[in-house]
Amino acid sequence: MALVNTKEMLKRARENDYAVAAFNAENMEMIQAIIDGALLAKSPVIIQTTPSTLKYADALTYFSIVKSIAQKSPVPIAIHLDHGNSVDLCRYCMECGYTSLMIDGSNFEFNENVRISKEVVDFAKLNGIPVEAELGAVGGKEDEHVVGAKDALYTNPAQALEFVEKTGIDSLAVAIGTAHGHYKQKPKLDFERLAEISQIVSLPLVLHGTSGVDDADVRHAVELGISKVNYATHLRDLYTREVRKVLQNPDIFDPKEYGKMAKIAIKDFVISRAKVCKSEGKI
Ligand code: 13P
Ligand code: ZN
Repeated sequence: MALVNTKEMLKRARENDYAVAAFNAENMEMIQAIIDGALLAKSPVIIQTTPSTLKYADALTYFSIVKSIAQKSPVPIAIHLDHGNSVDLCRYCMECGYTSLMIDGSNFEFNENVRISKEVVDFAKLNGIPVEAELGAVGGKEDEHVVGAKDALYTNPAQALEFVEKTGIDSLAVAIGTAHGHYKQKPKLDFERLAEISQIVSLPLVLHGTSGVDDADVRHAVELGISKVNYATHLRDLYTREVRKVLQNPDIFDPKEYGKMAKIAIKDFVISRAKVCKSEGKI
């Protein structure tokens, strides 16, 4: 089917107490494997790229790969800009055909975050493209965006409502104790805060920094209103681990061989996430 946008996809998830997993892809093989997993789990799926991924290859290239595979796939697939770091990049991705955008103004103070997020919402709405924005700051490092433990501000529930009303966004990324990258110690999620935000804000809520979070915690977060769950680091780990293993064999010189096992590992992980997020069969 044609690419879908995340508005209806996440609204349905929120209303029916499941989440759609969003996976960061860096290359064609990862995209193929993510879609293979979604097909086998009969699950909707979101493929996303960060600004640094879009420096590696153009947004139009990623869009074209995702679109061409999606056309032959019977599951709903969206392509999303993750942690968009400028209004211009959001606009460019939309022009390339991206069906969902994130503007990440979480490192700005509240009013500036509102201003930049609203600017993206205003032009995206004209084109029917939904926008995710973030309030509070998820810790760790994603792309060149580094948030130290001291600066990892949790989302304030009352402020979240004000933010949603002032910006007109379609989904809200919340900071409740997760962090990007590898965890040095087990993350402790602030479920009380999440429950409070979820009661006040009826929009789909987004969990970032989910690689390394216990499945039980992910399930609980989904029960409390998380409708989109982001995974990047674990896919990079799986892909690299499998390629590294294959390359131990000096007889292998065909690039088509490198990614084969990595694709299987990613496909299996995607299927396992559909089970944890309860999106299996929700097409
Ligand atoms: P990690 O995979 O690093 O946990 O984070 C995923 C994410 O939030 C992507 O935006
Ligand atoms: Zn993130």
